[in-house]
Amino acid sequence: MQQRFKVTGQSVIVTGGASGLGLAFAEAMCSEGARVTIMDMNEIALSQVITRMQAEGHSVTGRVLNVADRQDLDLAFDEVVAREGSLDTVFANAGIDPGPGFAALDMEGNKSAQNYIENYTDDRWDKVMRVNLDGAFYSLRAAARHMRRQKSGSIIITTSISALRPSGGLASAYPAAKAAAAQLMRHLALELAADGVRVNAIAPGPFATNIAGGVLHDEERRAAFTSIVPMGRIAEPDEIKGLAIFLASSASSFITGQQIAIDGGTSLSSARQ
Ligand SMILES: NC(=O)c1ccc[n+]([C@@H]2O[C@H](COP(=O)([O-])OP(=O)(O)OC[C@H]3O[C@@H](n4cnc5c(N)ncnc54)[C@H](O)[C@@H]3O)[C@@H](O)[C@H]2O)c1
Repeated sequence: MQQRFKVTGQSVIVTGGASGLGLAFAEAMCSEGARVTIMDMNEIALSQVITRMQAEGHSVTGRVLNVADRQDLDLAFDEVVAREGSLDTVFANAGIDPGPGFAALDMEGNKSAQNYIENYTDDRWDKVMRVNLDGAFYSLRAAARHMRRQKSGSIIITTSISALRPSGGLASAYPAAKAAAAQLMRHLALELAADGVRVNAIAPGPFATNIAGGVLHDEERRAAFTSIVPMGRIAEPDEIKGLAIFLASSASSFITGQQIAIDGGTSLSSARQ
């Protein structure tokens, strides 16, 4: 079984890897002996993460990148392939929900007026779409360009349970971008299947990360979110590591085009306004 879950020596890119789920993906892959390039637009957080992980003895490189910058993203992926000689796994994970975002959930776990569509600004729509949909598209395209040539690879995007069903706290652009990214993932999975490249998505429920200003670290807000999770708690980023290794390794060799929820049962419960 250990052979099946092996990722040792893989060349891996993680976008949005300086915090939260992306950092957990990077740590999981590094701890199993992969060579990881973390790309993130937060230069300070990235530099701290790289310094710490290199001190721990991991093979990890940092690259400052905004995934909405398509030219720089292409260049950054080319740099990795030139340096590492291959590209085996890509976690296209960078994503945002700018304020009020996740915070706009009242204490009963219902959508607050800040997230009603008539209060949703063009600026917020554009920001979310640029990162969560355009950024995912640029990452998938750059990964596919290298992996189709190699005839191997695993691409994993981070969507959300809001791509599976409407959910209380989230507003217009975020679920729309995530659902569109999920459909793009399926389309690409079909297109690349015969070339030996697998494409899947991880759809997380609430995890305690720094998204939306770190609202899920706040005790009161946590309680509001906990009320919508059948397992009755918010997850810690470490809990995504097993699924990350599974999708990056040959343990999932016949799985492509799937969106796997990791959400404590949240997507099973009925949607609320
Ligand atoms: N935390 C949750 O509950 C949750 C639930 C569902 C989906 N997600 C998704 O998980 C992914 C990771 O989010 P997280 O919760 O770990 O948040 P996080 O804020 O802790 O981490 C996101 C990282 O992405 C980086 N980033 C943001 N915009 C970027 C850009 N344009 N280019 C490059 N890097 C950028 C940030 O600097 C940060 O390091 C996102 O796609 C998010 O939508 C999170």
